[in-house]
Amino acid sequence: EKGTYDHYMLKEINDQPAAMRKIIQEYQDEDENLKIDTEIIDQLKDSDRIYVIAAGTSYHAGLIGKEFFEKWAGVPTEVHVASEFVYNTPLLSEKPLFIFISQSGETADSRAVLVEIKKLGHKSLTVTNVPGSTLSREADQTLTLHAGPEIAVASTKAYTAQIAVLSILAQVAARELGKGTEINLMQELAKVTTAITAIIDDAPAIEQIVNEYLETTRNAFFIGRTMDYYVGLEGALKLKEISYIQAEGFAGGELKHGTIALIEENTPVFALATQEKVNLNIRGNAQEVEARGAKVCMVSMEGLNQEGDTYVIPRVHEMLTPLVSVVVYQFIAYYAALHRGNDVDKPRNLAKSVTVE
Ligand code: M6R
Repeated sequence: EKGTYDHYMLKEINDQPAAMRKIIQEYQDEDENLKIDTEIIDQLKDSDRIYVIAAGTSYHAGLIGKEFFEKWAGVPTEVHVASEFVYNTPLLSEKPLFIFISQSGETADSRAVLVEIKKLGHKSLTVTNVPGSTLSREADQTLTLHAGPEIAVASTKAYTAQIAVLSILAQVAARELGKGTEINLMQELAKVTTAITAIIDDAPAIEQIVNEYLETTRNAFFIGRTMDYYVGLEGALKLKEISYIQAEGFAGGELKHGTIALIEENTPVFALATQEKVNLNIRGNAQEVEARGAKVCMVSMEGLNQEGDTYVIPRVHEMLTPLVSVVVYQFIAYYAALHRGNDVDKPRNLAKSVTVE
């Protein structure tokens, strides 16, 4: 099934442009307008707050989704780690809508939340790659990712598919709510697809980054601000999960509040600069760690890039950069694991779907 690819993970990274095209196709009508079931949109319009519930990579996709729901649709959104929410439920709004994000649709921590909120009579929507899964069957509504089966334990194409589907949901909500924040999303997602393809074609250059930054290190840091902070969390999870390098993602501005003490000579720090508003700030943070000996790998976006940046991703819509920048981090994790001789698709201690709480 993995065909000519050495690993499922590599295949699934490479599947991403096709998954994007499939999503674009599935979520538009004959007139090429964005299309989502009316019942789902009605539920969303009827709610005063969204609670996103997820784990791991799906939680990281939820963080990006929050930006879409709040900035485009104007709906206040909270994102919660499922295993925490069950035992420490926050105060709920009057009319909450629960959105469960889960590649497998089988994550027990998320299901435990679903069972509880159903008892309270709240509405639910599952965003999943597996339509017949438990979370899909038990929630009121389902949105399908259409990413095709994901086999590797490290989630790649499900993350980008989740973000794409959440962007569509938020744009349709914005349209139906008359928010005036609509963009030509399908055109922008098509640009994203081209950008992802360009990075895939450039994989050897990313392998070089791994040679230069990660061959012997025991730890690595991922910094960013706003959306780039969230992508850093995902980059760090991917790297630790399969390369076993201790990795941490954090907000650039938090460095000086403690973490900077960990920076030593040659500590690798991956910094992401795709957001204009904070471009100079993150570059300032990069200088702070560089001054203390860190080896900074600056990944920026065309148009915001500066001389000396390590890697420049193609320019896409500012709200959609995570779909593209994450691919660089997926390859970094892949090659780091490969070079260390690890089992890329089946890392130690982990299962593809976590069906125990
Ligand atoms: O199937 P799910 O999306 O609910 O799984 C959630 C996490 O277990 C999953 O994303 C995990 O963090 C991945 N192995 C990360 O690559």
